[in-house]
Amino acid sequence: MQKYAEAVCRSLAITIYGRSAAQHYFAAGERNMSEIANQPVLILLGPPGAGKGTQARRLEERFGLVQLSTGDLLRAAVAAGSPAGREAKAVMEAGGLVSDEIVLAILRERLSQPDVAGGVILDGFPRTTGQAEALDTLLAAEGRRVTGAISMEVDDAAMVARIAGRYTCAGCGEGYHDSFKQPKRAGICDACGGTEMKRRPDDTAETVAVRLEAYHSETAPLISYYAGQNLLHRVDAMGEIDAVTTDLISTIEGLRQPA
Ligand code: AP5
Repeated sequence: MQKYAEAVCRSLAITIYGRSAAQHYFAAGERNMSEIANQPVLILLGPPGAGKGTQARRLEERFGLVQLSTGDLLRAAVAAGSPAGREAKAVMEAGGLVSDEIVLAILRERLSQPDVAGGVILDGFPRTTGQAEALDTLLAAEGRRVTGAISMEVDDAAMVARIAGRYTCAGCGEGYHDSFKQPKRAGICDACGGTEMKRRPDDTAETVAVRLEAYHSETAPLISYYAGQNLLHRVDAMGEIDAVTTDLISTIEGLRQPA
């Protein structure tokens, strides 16, 4: 069964990326298995605007993990004009979910790269039960499992304001908000000093409504999925950004305690 799944993944990767990228994609299979087995895999669950990206960037510094955002990976594929990116573009602009096949191929390729060796924080993945099951299979093949899934709990009504005011530094991706998080010096990124800021094309009130609907129908069931595996933790994400970070840190520290 595992060999069959591997063959399907290989053929998918070749279709999407071409043969040489697909070879790189399978390089993970050659990494040291015991080294891989100890890498934490944390999941941040939450609707658009919950603060997954904002917090993941802080947590990666704190815990030496790498943030892996499927939204960012898909936007990079769109910008590169790859076949996967061309297929994803219209779906993302409309606020729907990109197909599991494309998302899984992109994620797996990213997970095969050496910089994620210390563990990852998954931001925006998984988003469907199919993706969650595929992640479990992928990790199990390496003797691993999800370390914990943290649900960032928020009110839908507040999410439109958060998303409509959001912008990021074009240079380094640091996130800001018109009201909730402004750079210390207007127009200058605190993190890299860049002066070019950008807004996402899917951050409109209409698209946010569709994205929230997709979250409730496709992604919210993952809360029960991880609760059923005893991996779910809930954090109130309606507070100020620093307060949410503090709660997330103590939740993650709790995961590190011996059972
Ligand atoms: P993606 O990029 O993942 O977007 P999203 O899940 O909609 O999440 P956002 O990035 O909008 O919000 P966030 O929770 O990261 O909030 P942020 O920290 O920025 O996905 C985009 C699209 O790609 C999807 O719609 C889909 O089409 C596709 N896609 C991606 N992954 C996929 C997958 N696995 N399967 C299928 N399709 C996929 O915060 C928002 C704003 O609020 C910021 O300005 C921030 O400064 C501010 N803020 C944050 N926290 C607080 C706080 N506590 N108080 C006040 N303001 C705050």
